[in-house]
Amino acid sequence: MIIVIDGPAGSGKSSTARAIADRLDIEYLDSGALYRTATLIYLEANRDEDTFFRLLNQKKISFYYEDQKFHVAVDGQSVTDEIRTAEVTGAVSEVAALPRVRSFVNNLMRDVVLDGIYVAEGRDLGTAVFPDAELKFFMSADLEERAKRRFKERKDQNPELTLKEVKQNIAERDLKDSKRQADPLKKADEAIEIDTTNLTFEQQVDKICSKIREVL
Ligand code: C5P
Repeated sequence: MIIVIDGPAGSGKSSTARAIADRLDIEYLDSGALYRTATLIYLEANRDEDTFFRLLNQKKISFYYEDQKFHVAVDGQSVTDEIRTAEVTGAVSEVAALPRVRSFVNNLMRDVVLDGIYVAEGRDLGTAVFPDAELKFFMSADLEERAKRRFKERKDQNPELTLKEVKQNIAERDLKDSKRQADPLKKADEAIEIDTTNLTFEQQVDKICSKIREVL
C-alpha cells in the first residue's frame, strides 16, 4: 500500500511525511534523497554523462528510515549527510531532468514498496510513479513562507546563508522541476491539496493522518 505526498521545495512534505510515518508506524520513502544520491554520483563523475551512467549502474544504492532520518548508502558507505550539501542541491534538478535517471530512481522505489505500507514524498509520485496510490496529497505554501522555513532549518549549519539566497534557490528549483519534459512537478487531478501557508505543523500532520486512517 502506498500513500504519496507531492509538492514544491519547502512545502513541508518531508517533515510531515516523517511525522506521519512515526505516528502511524508505517514506512517512509524520500524520493528526493534518491535523486540527490544520483546527483552525488554525477558530481563524482565530473558531470560526464557516460561515466555517470556507468557508475550509477555499477553502484549499489540502499536506503532505510530510522531515528526520524532517511538514510542512504552507496556501496555500503553512508551518504546521508553528503546528499544535503549546497553543491548537490544546486545540481539536483539538472540531474533529475534526465529521463534515464528518473527511470532508475522509479525502479528502485517500485521494487521496495512491494512489501509493507509506505508514505512516500516527491514531485511526480501521484502523476507518474504511483498513479494507483491509495491516497494522494499535494502540499503547497507561499514561496515566502517556504523560504522562511528552509532558512530556519539551515541557518545553524550555514551561518552565511541569507533568506534571499534560500528564496532564490527554491524558486529556481521549482521552475526547473515544473518546466522539465520528463515527469514534471504537478498535482495529480485526484490529489487532496493541502495549503500549509497558514497551518501549524501539528495541524497539517493531523489533517493528513485523519485522511490516511480512513483507508488503513
Ligand atoms: O525533495 P528534495 O528537495 O530533496 O528533492 C530534490 C530534487 O529532486 C528536487 O528539486 C527535484 O529536482 C528532484 N525530485 C524529482 N522528483 C521527485 C523527487 C525529487 O525530480 N519525485
